[in-house]
Amino acid sequence: MSTATQVIGIASGKGGVGKTTVAVNLAVALQMSGKRVMLFDADLGLANAQIALGVRCPYNLSHFLSGEKTLSEIIVTTRQGVQLVPGASGMYEMAGLSELQAASIVQAFSSLENEVDFLIVDMAAGISPYVLAFMSACAKRFVVVRDDPSSIADAYGTIKVMIQDFGLDNIYLIANGMNSQGEGRQLFERINQVCARFLDHTIQYLGTIEQDEMILGALKKYQAVLEYAPGSSAARDFRLLAKETEGLAVDDSLSGGMQFFVERLVQTRS
Ligand SMILES: Nc1ncnc2c1ncn2[C@@H]1O[C@H](COP(=O)(O)OP(=O)(O)O)[C@@H](O)[C@H]1O
Ligand SMILES: [Mg+2]
Repeated sequence: MSTATQVIGIASGKGGVGKTTVAVNLAVALQMSGKRVMLFDADLGLANAQIALGVRCPYNLSHFLSGEKTLSEIIVTTRQGVQLVPGASGMYEMAGLSELQAASIVQAFSSLENEVDFLIVDMAAGISPYVLAFMSACAKRFVVVRDDPSSIADAYGTIKVMIQDFGLDNIYLIANGMNSQGEGRQLFERINQVCARFLDHTIQYLGTIEQDEMILGALKKYQAVLEYAPGSSAARDFRLLAKETEGLAVDDSLSGGMQFFVERLVQTRS
């Protein structure tokens, strides 16, 4: 992979807030707008990116980790054109990966010859050291939050650790499951005020995905909502999110590219 690949990590703190939904639909929306996208399902607890994209993967990360297959051999191109690195369904927890396994994953990514514009990493929930190491290595961090107290608390906790303990920037908030765009922005303002006051840092707003039953309908048909209901509010929101993502400043220095990803991970590990 080239240094021009933008690596984006999607985190949340709490599970069930829409991380995979965002990762999958953002990947499809970017691909539909002509970008080359790879999606890494790094949530090893539940490999649901495959389900959401409606693709059967003969092999997954567990076959790579056991040495049976190379990373290239497990990658599947979905009908939407996204290159998917399938997670190891229910076999491992991200936190349970050994240092050696972690290093081998990263090493393999860096030597992939696939040309991609965006590598989107659907992280496991929580803030295990491994999740944080991965988030550090990404160029941009998208934090998904819902407007409920535990999701807000967990998102803030994740942001706090990323800023205070890891010195990370380029943190963007995505409000999910909102009643309106305006309420999503308000939720961002609330969280950002707390960040400014208690962390002395601000974060950035990326966008809002409204609550939309079409998302569940799409999942039941093993489709992205952009395929299942292109005219829905959710599809509109994801197209907008893709546009915002494309518009983010591209770091064409080493920072943000795949090489950077590898180097940062190696650094955090030692
Ligand atoms: N904006 C939304 N509107 C309606 N349902 C949603 C929305 N976002 C996510 N969901 C649903 O919420 C559930 C959890 O989402 P998921 O993406 O799997 O969360 P996570 O990956 O954070 O655990 C899924 O059933 C998904 O379809
Ligand atoms: Mg998930």
